[in-house]
Amino acid sequence: MSNIIKIKNKIGSFKKIITVPGDKSLSIRWVLFASLAKGTSKAKNLLMSEDVLAAIEAIKKLGIKVIVTKRYCKIFGNGIDGYKYKKNLKIDAKNSGTLGRLILGLLVNTPETINLVGDKSLSKRDFRRVSDPLSKFGAKFKLTKNNFLPLKIYGSSALKPIKYNEKKGSAQCKSSIIFAGMRTDGTTIIKAKKSRNHTELLCKHLRLPISIKTNESFDEIKITKVKKINTLDYDIPSDISSSAFFIVLTALSKNSELIIKNININPSRVGIITILKKMGVKIIFKNQRTYKGEKKADIKVVSAKNIRSIICPPKLNSGAIDEFLVIFLIAAKAKGVSYFKNLGELNQKESPRLKWAEKILTNLGVKTVTTNDSIKIYGNPNINLDFKKKIVIKNYLKDHRVFMTSLIAALSFGGKWTIHDKDSINTSFPNFLKIIEDLKK
Ligand code: S3P
Repeated sequence: MSNIIKIKNKIGSFKKIITVPGDKSLSIRWVLFASLAKGTSKAKNLLMSEDVLAAIEAIKKLGIKVIVTKRYCKIFGNGIDGYKYKKNLKIDAKNSGTLGRLILGLLVNTPETINLVGDKSLSKRDFRRVSDPLSKFGAKFKLTKNNFLPLKIYGSSALKPIKYNEKKGSAQCKSSIIFAGMRTDGTTIIKAKKSRNHTELLCKHLRLPISIKTNESFDEIKITKVKKINTLDYDIPSDISSSAFFIVLTALSKNSELIIKNININPSRVGIITILKKMGVKIIFKNQRTYKGEKKADIKVVSAKNIRSIICPPKLNSGAIDEFLVIFLIAAKAKGVSYFKNLGELNQKESPRLKWAEKILTNLGVKTVTTNDSIKIYGNPNINLDFKKKIVIKNYLKDHRVFMTSLIAALSFGGKWTIHDKDSINTSFPNFLKIIEDLKK
């Protein structure tokens, strides 16, 4: 089957209720926590994408039994010290920065050298951001060209707690340090620039020895040695990052309305909602509730009438970090010039996303001024491409979010698009195209 998709028509009006798959961050964290619990944990609505399957494969290599069926996933943990470390163990994080970085925190005490590898995209991403703090605990690392995968981790049996100032606002980095802190006598103290806080909420829900003091721009997290983790049955809420594509598609389509059910609306993840509302998109949360420490709601969005430009306050960046590519499509249709800054981290993702934003927007005929950490977007409320205008999107390191953003742009603005590497959606959102087809019916 061809791995290329061709789009030559805009989507028509739709009024629908949809569900998107389970949250990726929570799915990977659940797999890792369940692997350390003593006994059987069961999850429903676990995201069955390549990133999460890679997490399952990783814990299986560490001797943990897993059963996956259509309806649920069961993990049979052997306790906090229950991993079995074989000689010459190789763990493949595939495309997943979250898996690659978080799991290193759990491997700081490995008695055997472990090789961590990843795909082409992950092998271009920075791992010093975790090997540096984890080395302070006493683990040792050998990275490719000092920064990259493949890497080797040599664990230590004499780990020491650390004090660390996490300045990038990386939840992956923060979580990796929390995991290592769980394996260490004494108290690890992390001053962390704001980022998604699922790891902390799960620690609290599991009553692990963690304390968190919250300030305006950073959190102070203290974690001490964890002796036991209880099993965790979890019905994973759906992913706001996956719903983002449909929120934007609805806002950009005429006479349309969409309800997306059961979405995780953790305040550290709803940056896209705050930003789009400021730009004049009507979005409401319905049926809000709390589940195991996480907030959930159904999201209702309708077609946007007058989209305003935005000077985006950088304090909203971390809560929208995975959504900027689609947010930029809204800015493309806004009246006026939008400005997004302090976004250097976007070029550290699965592909250099600021560069890809520039390419996609230029194809739409929208002027941008891009630096290595900012983008100015000169919006055009009347943007409408000729159906003969050829646009080809390829060689983007199979970044799932570049693929999905390009497809939303094609369905919203017209043109004759050829988008390569359709299978990139398997990373985070395998039924993305199926939902698009359902909206067309
Ligand atoms: C994630 C954190 C974010 C995000 C990624 C998932 C997580 O990365 O971009 O998709 O689950 O912790 P950083 O922590 O590197 O910003």
